[in-house]
Amino acid sequence: MSLKKKSANYISAKESREISKKNRKITKELEKKRNRKHIPEEEYITKMKNPENCVEFDNVHTYFFTDIGTVKSVDGVSFDVPQGKTVGIVGESGCGKSVTSLSLMQLVQRPAGQTVEGEIRFNSGDKVVNVVNAPASVMQKLRGNYMSMIFQEPMTSLNPVFRIGEQIDEVIELHNPEKSKEEVKARTIELLEMVGIANKEGVYQMYPHELSGGMRQRICIAMALACDPKLIIADEPTTALDVTIQAQILDLLRNLKDKINSSIMLITHDLGVVAEMADYVVVMYAGRVIEKGTAREIFKDPRHPYTIGLMNSKPVVGKKVDKLYSIPGSVPNPVNMPDYCYFKDRCNMCVDACDGAYPCEYHVSPTHVVSCYRCAEGGTANEQ
Ligand SMILES: Nc1ncnc2c1ncn2[C@@H]1O[C@H](COP(=O)(O)OP(=O)(O)OP(=O)(O)O)[C@@H](O)[C@H]1O
Ligand SMILES: [Mg+2]
Repeated sequence: MSLKKKSANYISAKESREISKKNRKITKELEKKRNRKHIPEEEYITKMKNPENCVEFDNVHTYFFTDIGTVKSVDGVSFDVPQGKTVGIVGESGCGKSVTSLSLMQLVQRPAGQTVEGEIRFNSGDKVVNVVNAPASVMQKLRGNYMSMIFQEPMTSLNPVFRIGEQIDEVIELHNPEKSKEEVKARTIELLEMVGIANKEGVYQMYPHELSGGMRQRICIAMALACDPKLIIADEPTTALDVTIQAQILDLLRNLKDKINSSIMLITHDLGVVAEMADYVVVMYAGRVIEKGTAREIFKDPRHPYTIGLMNSKPVVGKKVDKLYSIPGSVPNPVNMPDYCYFKDRCNMCVDACDGAYPCEYHVSPTHVVSCYRCAEGGTANEQ
């Protein structure tokens, strides 16, 4: 019977037990190392490759050790976020965008999720911290004070049983224990004004359900800005909002960025948003960066077939088409990744070299890097 047919991804109970036993051993060891009482500073204080950068992702690997096998959600990701610039991260659902940003905040669901290799260097001004090895106490100081995150769905980020004012006050109090009650409230009101809320005294007393989606997202942005962070990570900040509110929120983010001179890591699958906001673009596919460069390079001269496909799949004003292009096939199974280019099975521009190992990074220009054999001739390879 068809129901009994063994699929390629089928795992027996015995195999699953063996995998979880192995996983427990690996994660126990990693957790033991992480939970040591005194972690010496040399293990996590480091130096930036380029002091102009705010964050440097260097060959980061974040895996989830699940009962059906190891999910390599982020598998060797490297890119920089320069100070005061916006970096857009794009790619289809499940390609590892959120896990990349969670790795930077050290918020990956442990013990199953672990950053097993690589460095994430964060420039906090006086010190450079390698987030991968940093102990929880150091991370607690970094989160909120130096880096903060705006999530996709504002309602789930706010606590429904507390007033807006109390929730923002709490963030400020936690990070600035020396401030008096009046000072904290004054700062909250100032933040509400900064994110464009007219009735600030009224909203201070309201509960989240009394606000519209756009206003709730403004509150989340106010919270994220409470301590003037150096880096704002916005994970699909406008996906849950309608188009006009989207434009307002993006305008707000752009203006605020100039005001407090912080960097933004903007995660989205909306290429329109990236084109409008980003200085640099990183394109991810199946846990790896397949192309990165300045926004101009990526939009005017996309080189990787996947990026070209993404560009063709978005509607263009004034260009009439019967049907929008969609990239055929789907992302390979994250547990069993092939050893050749991950995009090969969906690619319609393959060359002979594509039968070989996963392509290394080729430089098309000093800032434009592509992982595709089609760029091997024109570009220079990046030794890894
Ligand atoms: N807690 C978890 N346990 C196991 N696998 C996970 C976990 N969290 C994420 N993953 C896997 O990691 C991969 C990357 O997920 P991620 O959330 O980063 O995708 P994404 O690019 O942010 O997608 P989206 O655009 O839908 O938000 C996916 O294959 C997902 O199934
Ligand atoms: Mg995501």
